[in-house]
Amino acid sequence: MKKILITGGAGFIGSNFIHYIFEKEKDIFIINLDKLTYAGNLENLKGIEQNYSGKYKFIHGDIYNKELVEYIFAEYNSDAVINFAAESHVDRSILDSNIFIETNVLGSATLLNVAKKFWKEEDWEKKRFLQISTDEVYGTLPENDKSIKFTEETPLKPHSPYSASKASADCIVQSFYDTYEFPTLITRCSNNYGPYQFPEKLIPLIINNALNDKKLPVYGDGKNIRDWLYVEDHCNAIWAVLQKGKIGEVYNIGGNNEIQNIEIVKRILDYLGEPHSLITYVKDRLGHDRRYAIDATKIKNELGWKPKFTFEEKIKDTIDWYLKNPKWINNVISGEYQRYYEKMYKNI
Ligand code: NAD
Ligand code: DAU
Repeated sequence: MKKILITGGAGFIGSNFIHYIFEKEKDIFIINLDKLTYAGNLENLKGIEQNYSGKYKFIHGDIYNKELVEYIFAEYNSDAVINFAAESHVDRSILDSNIFIETNVLGSATLLNVAKKFWKEEDWEKKRFLQISTDEVYGTLPENDKSIKFTEETPLKPHSPYSASKASADCIVQSFYDTYEFPTLITRCSNNYGPYQFPEKLIPLIINNALNDKKLPVYGDGKNIRDWLYVEDHCNAIWAVLQKGKIGEVYNIGGNNEIQNIEIVKRILDYLGEPHSLITYVKDRLGHDRRYAIDATKIKNELGWKPKFTFEEKIKDTIDWYLKNPKWINNVISGEYQRYYEKMYKNI
């Protein structure tokens, strides 16, 4: 049985990945190490313990806790690590970057060092350390030349404290391959959407606000572009990279689906039948990257991966998911999120 240590498995993409992988693979054991920050939510994993008992272990803890991580490696001797754990929100990194350095840089380095210590070198051929990174490490693209996209060769030029912390982690991970030939892989994906996404992020924030007739904060002129990918397509790509990716390599993952923010907001309003008058332009995000777009040729040619889902289809399913899960949203937006929202959006 293959054993995988997943970190950050109670967050948006990690929990989607755990659902995805248990549905897909019969012969698998998952250890999920999660600190349960404001973004970690065991509700996202409802049913997993019951449906996959004997194949799943949840451990509440921090990837930056060396003793705990050592215990997990000693106890479970996993075949692979998929490091989803991170502070993931750009706006929060602009408010305070300390925890981003701790978790994203030092936490990732801790996992990597412990994996190198515990995995015997003669077994490295079969082991894999997969770092879940982001297209934001590449910085920003010109908005008028659509022929230019991020490739794996694009130099790293992160702008926000979040993306700088992710780029730092990428450099450390890559250095372990370059120096020791430690079996690393890095994926860099564009913006994800789908169920269980925390409502600080654009799409669930707009859905939630629109449903509550609250103003919809659109940064700057609303024309920043993101390349949206349905979360299950991301999960599928991660699995392909883990199974077939060449060690020491980086794989970009994207939906070839560039959309301006304002277009997304209008589509959500139209689907919900809510008025465009809710749209409220607000002060731009500091250092706001203008455009992201992924060239996913490498993963397509080498691993045969391409997105299965269209944005038109899955944005509707995503909105429907939030409509059907008011309890999930209400639990998530009470408490910490309320305080964050009031601080972040106090001027609208
Ligand atoms: P998220 O914020 O929804 O979830 C992060 C999870 O990590 C939470 O469960 C949280 O409790 C956990 N966590 C945070 N700090 C931890 C620590 N120190 N130790 C253990 N667990 C900790 O994030 P997400 O959107 O699911 O993103 C997951 C990963 O994918 C991140 O590494 C992010 O950089 C990357 N990524 C996200 C996107 C996106 O669009 N959301 C796109 C590309 C890459
Ligand atoms: O590109 C991948 C990245 O996508 C991931 O690495 C990050 O973890 C993830 O959070 C996401 O980052 P973004 O900053 O692109 O996502 P966010 O949903 O915060 O914002 C999307 C766009 O919408 C961005 O241009 C900012 C804008 N925006 C966002 C919010 C929250 C608004 O206009 N208003 C808002 O209130």
